[in-house]
Amino acid sequence: FSTKDSFVTNVQPQLDHSGHKITVVGVGAAGIGSAFSILTRSVSNDIALVDSAQDKLEGEALDLQHGSSFLHNARIVASTDYAVTAGSRICVLTAGARLKKGETRFDLLQRNVEIAKNIIPQLLKYSPDTILLIVSNPVDILTHIAWKISGLPKTRVIGSGTNLDSSRFRFLISQRLGIGLSSCHGWIIGEHGDSSVAVWSSVNVAGVRLQTLNPSFGTDGDDEKWSELHQKVITGAYEVNKRKGNTGWATGLNVSGICEGILKNSRNVYAVSVLVQGLHDIKEEVFLSLPAVLGENGVTDVIIQPLENSEKAKLQKSAQVLSKVMKSVKW
Ligand code: NAI
Ligand code: 2OP
Repeated sequence: FSTKDSFVTNVQPQLDHSGHKITVVGVGAAGIGSAFSILTRSVSNDIALVDSAQDKLEGEALDLQHGSSFLHNARIVASTDYAVTAGSRICVLTAGARLKKGETRFDLLQRNVEIAKNIIPQLLKYSPDTILLIVSNPVDILTHIAWKISGLPKTRVIGSGTNLDSSRFRFLISQRLGIGLSSCHGWIIGEHGDSSVAVWSSVNVAGVRLQTLNPSFGTDGDDEKWSELHQKVITGAYEVNKRKGNTGWATGLNVSGICEGILKNSRNVYAVSVLVQGLHDIKEEVFLSLPAVLGENGVTDVIIQPLENSEKAKLQKSAQVLSKVMKSVKW
C-alpha cells in the first residue's frame, strides 16, 4: 500500500474534465492574458493551454500552476499535444503572428491563415461540439476561415471582433464626460480594424442620446471634435503596440468577458464577429461585428441597430473591404 492508498479509498473513476473547460491556443501576450483573466475572474477554473513553443508553454503553465492555490482549485494543464484539450466547451485561438510597427492586421493574413488551418482540425478532433472563439488577426477573416474549415454551425464560430474596440470607445467617452464607464453606452461595429464603424447615433448616457443634443456629434463638422474618439479607437492598438509590443491585458479581459457570457448563458450582448450576410442589406458572405446575444450554445440572436444612412453605408463599405480581402486569401 502506498501512503495514498492507506487513507484514500477510490469509489469510482474521476472525470477528467469539468463541463466548463476552456482551451487557449497560443500563450503569447493575448493567450496568457486570456488565461489569467479567465482564472482570476472565475469564469472557469479548468483551463488547457497549447502552444508550439514548448519551453514557453511549460514556463507559462508552471507559473500559473504555482499561483493556483490563490484561485478556486484551478486545474491548469498544458501540452503541445492537442489531446490535452479534450472536452473543451470553448476553444480560444490566439496563436500566430502579431502586429509589428507599421503593420495593419491584414499584413498578418497569410501567416495566420496557415496557422489556423493547422490548429482548428486538431481542436475539433478532441472537442467536436466546441465553440470556437477566434482572436488571432485579422480576426474577421480568420473567423470566416475557421467557420469554413471547421464545418461547425455559424452560431458556434465567433470572432472577438469589435468588443474590444467598443470597450476602448466607452473608455474614451467616459474619460471625456467624467462619467463611469459602465454608464457610457457606445458601440463600434464592422471590421475589427481600420474600417470599423462608430455608431454615434446610439451613444447615450442614461438614455440621453448625445446626438440629440449635438446634431453634428461624431461628424467631421462637429466643433467639439468627438469624431477624434473613433480615430483613437482605430489607432489604439497601434499606440499600445508601439510602446509595449502587445495588447495582452485588454485582450485577455475581453476574451474572459465573452467566455463568461457563453459559459454562464448570460444572454448579454457583445460586439462579436458573426456571419452577417443579409443583415443591414449586406450582400457579401462576410464575418464582421454586430451586437449579438451570447449563450451556452453560442450566438442566439443578432441585434439590428436602427443605423443612420451614413452609418449603414460605412458598415456596408466595411463588409466590402473584408469581402475583398477574403477573396484574396489562399486557404
Ligand atoms: P505573441 O507573439 O505574443 O504570441 C503568439 C503565440 O502563438 C506564441 O506563443 C507562439 O509560439 C504561438 N504560435 C505560433 N504559431 C503557433 C502554432 N502553429 N501552434 C501553436 N502556437 C503557435 O502574440 P500576441 O500578442 O499574443 O498576439 C497573438 C495574435 O492575436 C496576433 O495575431 C494578434 O494580432 C492577435 N490579437 C488579436 C486581438 C483581437 O482583439 N482580436 C487582440 C490582441 C492580439
Ligand atoms: C488589438 O486591437 C492588435 O487586434 C489587436 O489590440
